[in-house]
Amino acid sequence: MSKKILANDGISNSGILALEAAGYEVLTTNVAQEQLANFINEEQITGLLVRSATQVRKELIDACPSLKLIGRGGVGMDNIDVDYAREKGLHVINTPASSSASVAELVFAHLFGGVRFLYDANRNMPLEGDKNFKALKKNYGKGTELRGKTLGVLGFGRIGQATAKIALGIGMKVIYHDPFLEEAQINLPFYDGQSISFNLKSCSKEELLKSSDFITLHVPAQKEYVIGKADFEIMKNGVGLVNAARGGVIDEVALVAAIDSGKVSFAGLDVFESEPVPEVRILMHPKISLSPHIGAATGEAQDRIGTELAEQIIQLLD
Ligand SMILES: NC(=O)c1ccc[n+]([C@@H]2O[C@H](COP(=O)([O-])OP(=O)(O)OC[C@H]3O[C@@H](n4cnc5c(N)ncnc54)[C@H](O)[C@@H]3O)[C@@H](O)[C@H]2O)c1
Repeated sequence: MSKKILANDGISNSGILALEAAGYEVLTTNVAQEQLANFINEEQITGLLVRSATQVRKELIDACPSLKLIGRGGVGMDNIDVDYAREKGLHVINTPASSSASVAELVFAHLFGGVRFLYDANRNMPLEGDKNFKALKKNYGKGTELRGKTLGVLGFGRIGQATAKIALGIGMKVIYHDPFLEEAQINLPFYDGQSISFNLKSCSKEELLKSSDFITLHVPAQKEYVIGKADFEIMKNGVGLVNAARGGVIDEVALVAAIDSGKVSFAGLDVFESEPVPEVRILMHPKISLSPHIGAATGEAQDRIGTELAEQIIQLLD
């Protein structure tokens, strides 16, 4: 069997090195979708690695008998016909844990920025920071601290728990709601080898909405909104909200209404209902902190993705 891997959407150097050390040849050419089948056949590629761009559909799988493995760097596998590939005897792998810490840090970038109005200060300082310094200072002068406040985590899987660790580390109280995880032990490691454990229990969604000063969502995509109009009504006045999960888990129309009524003081969004063309009223809203779906996009996460893929490939194909 040839030991050729095509990383069509790129792979970290750490991943390439680990594969090469095990005798694999790694090609990082970005082959256009319509030429992919030909390329794979000509090069006799054994493993095809993708992120979210390359589509790995039934037709491609059928056309490429040399393929033994399809790997997705990251979590969602919507771009791969997973069941079909598995039926055909291919390994299909992903790296679900590798970006949790990065997404969690982005949540806190939105939260720390939110309580000090950085999302708005960064829009207005370039425009009037020289002429209106004192007025801006007054505008952004009623900040709050996160320490001592309650963070409600909706969905307590990998990223929810990674977010809870940061929250606990900065002195927040953490509550969570997850219908599939009654209890969780969160282990907080420090740089010098010390660690502290917290035992948390799931509360009801209503309890979480009522008691949280800040709410962050870490649920998978669902058919229905997880936060809709009625949910906003029971939240604390002035709550801050972050969605770095999936567009469509928050009703954006209800969100804008809740911000405009003062119920929600700010929102941080990394994902959008109408991605990749977010609604203009979301983009232009002065109380929404924005990022273009970059939760997992750190060098460290990419390194871990590459290494994790390499480890699985070596284990499955060697
Ligand atoms: N912003 C980004 O760039 C980025 C990067 C990676 C993942 N994500 C997204 O983050 C989300 C979480 O990812 P993860 O790796 O932690 O997933 P995970 O599967 O580890 O955790 C999801 C948790 O949500 C729980 N859950 C399901 N339905 C729920 C509901 N209605 N209410 C409360 N909890 C519910 C599940 O029981 C599970 O524990 C996913 O939507 C994923 O697509 C975003």
